Amino acid sequence: MGNNKTETLFSEIKIGNTTLNNRIGLAPMTRTSATEHGLATEEMAQYYANFARGGFGLIMTEGTYTDEYYSQGYLNQPGIATKEQMDSWRKVVSVVHNEGAKIIMQLMHAGALSQGNRFNSSTKGPSAVKPKGEQLAFYGGQGDFQMPEEMTQIDIDQVIQQFAASAKNAKEAGFDGVEIHGANGYVLDQFLTDYTNRRTDKYGGSIENRLRLAVEVIKAVRNEVGNEFPVGIRISQAKVNDADHKWSGGVAEAAQIFNALQQAGVDFLHIAEPQAAAPAFGGTGPTLVKLAKDHGNTIVIANGSLGDPASADSLRTEGEADIVTIGKAALANQDWANRVAADRELNDFDFQQYLLPKATLKEFEYRTLKA
Ligand SMILES: Cc1cc2nc3c(=O)[nH]c(=O)nc-3n(C[C@H](O)[C@H](O)[C@H](O)COP(=O)(O)O)c2cc1C
Repeated sequence: MGNNKTETLFSEIKIGNTTLNNRIGLAPMTRTSATEHGLATEEMAQYYANFARGGFGLIMTEGTYTDEYYSQGYLNQPGIATKEQMDSWRKVVSVVHNEGAKIIMQLMHAGALSQGNRFNSSTKGPSAVKPKGEQLAFYGGQGDFQMPEEMTQIDIDQVIQQFAASAKNAKEAGFDGVEIHGANGYVLDQFLTDYTNRRTDKYGGSIENRLRLAVEVIKAVRNEVGNEFPVGIRISQAKVNDADHKWSGGVAEAAQIFNALQQAGVDFLHIAEPQAAAPAFGGTGPTLVKLAKDHGNTIVIANGSLGDPASADSLRTEGEADIVTIGKAALANQDWANRVAADRELNDFDFQQYLLPKATLKEFEYRTLKA
């Protein structure tokens, strides 16, 4: 399948004990269409099934919250923290499986970027540092983010334990794997980022300390789900509230990050960049995807402006990425994979057509093009 420009996208690949029938994934995309209580709905099941029917070998769910404390980021975001939430996902999993695709759940803790949490009106993050930017009106927020409280060791232990419990719930609901959301400015990224993490304990200071929470979460999740169940982490430099952020330590820091995450026990690294094919630190240097491949020594999933099949394919053929995920171009083409396989024309992405009417162009760009 696939024309000769894209055929490398259409071969099988194994992640842990899961075999994907091609290398094309749907990027995780928040929709805020769950019930008020965080339950997955029939509409969501049909939404995800459509992409599976459209040829995507891998479906990544929207970011799903992990606890009933401080993880929820948006009202009507789905959760995987309770038995009821877990049971609600079974239908989503089964319809996606019926269409022949695999489905991985993205586990998310919003930390200081939470702007809609029905369990708590205050927020918690690594340090009492007010997040840059403004809340996302697209997801019902308004104005500045709150000043977060600094997490105590008890809070941190709770974060770790709840990621692990949620991963177990996802496995029990039938998911084919979990992705820990370590990207885009949410809690694990807040710990990794120097300006949001001012801690002086073992979770702050050196890069090793700032990575400690992510490493502990990976280990706890792995411990809970066993060695065969795919576990990955998503990492980015850019954040939803700080689009231009770059790791200050450049290539050497990237190497250290990818190495530490892989050592902690992940089966894949999902690298999100605004432009996955562009040099990570400018000039003619390597892409972040290539750095992950070289230093992570594991399966690398690439994301960011890969909606043009030729660019998706070239990252694959150049040995940088094993799998690609498609975001906005998939919203415009729910059958992106089938179209590419048949060499059929793709629709352009039109935000008005594919996103909620309440979104303004400015908000939409803020949330996605830069994230
Ligand atoms: C509507 C929307 C919601 C998103 N929600 C999430 C999310 O829940 N988790 C996540 O890791 N990334 C999220 N993203 C980022 C996408 O996964 C992806 O990184 C971004 O769209 C860039 O890829 P693209 O150029 O293929 O669109 C979202 C993007 C969009 C457009």
